[in-house]
Amino acid sequence: MLAARRAVVRALGRLEKAAGAARHRLEAGPGGPGGDDRSVAGPGEGRYGQLWDPPADSDAMALILNTTDTEEFERTGRADAERLRAFLPQDGTALDVGCGIGRVARYLAPHCATLWSVDASPRMLELARERLREVPNVRFARCVDTDIPDVPTASVDLVYALLVLQHLEREDAFLLLEELRRVVKPGGTLFVTFPNLLSDTYLSAFLEYARRGETANPARARMYTPQEVARILPAAGFDADIEADVEIVAVCHPR
Ligand SMILES: C[S@@+](CC[C@H](N)C(=O)[O-])C[C@H]1O[C@@H](n2cnc3c(N)ncnc32)[C@H](O)[C@@H]1O
Repeated sequence: MLAARRAVVRALGRLEKAAGAARHRLEAGPGGPGGDDRSVAGPGEGRYGQLWDPPADSDAMALILNTTDTEEFERTGRADAERLRAFLPQDGTALDVGCGIGRVARYLAPHCATLWSVDASPRMLELARERLREVPNVRFARCVDTDIPDVPTASVDLVYALLVLQHLEREDAFLLLEELRRVVKPGGTLFVTFPNLLSDTYLSAFLEYARRGETANPARARMYTPQEVARILPAAGFDADIEADVEIVAVCHPR
């Protein structure tokens, strides 16, 4: 119970931090207070990456999980990796999309032949490179909006996106799912999470966003219902098994 309550408090705090950081960048604008030229994406850079620009590891942990407690950050990374291992064949290739600083990649990579760490944010990728410098089989790639050009078609056994799709416009989340459908092997697995609008936690977050006028903030979380997820995943080319609690978790296979 206590763990569940902590998770709820963390989920709300995390959304608040991510939204706050992006709002700050938008308000600052190019050259404004706290802003610099990187606030505006140049051609080919995409519009999501610059919204996630933590100065250091501890800021990244706060954005990702609303914690500065390294032990907790690592413990959740280990637990998520353990859960994902069940979907990974021996010597398989995995792809962590929206990897952040490699919270999960660090613990899953030792069980893979290759693990792709993919993120839209150059800064997150830089911090991930640093954090994973002793993990030899990790490859890094940029996701430009919804494209991952460096990753070959039908090359990955397990693709996962944890706490990521909600931070894209819904239409972009759909396009990213189609891109993930491109890279996953036939018979491979996609593991994705969405915040459940039907839960008290995310209904509160949604109301809070609405009242604060967060619609202009491109990094805000979009909530989904399990029914929406059940419609969107097949439209992107996946058969999906869906479990809905506070988070919606979908384990999918290409159709
Ligand atoms: C809340 S963090 C989750 C990080 C990681 N999945 C984890 O669970 O530790 C969201 C991540 O998604 C990334 N992101 C946002 N938009 C993205 C996009 N269009 N493509 C890929 N990554 C994106 C952000 O840069 C950030 O690292």
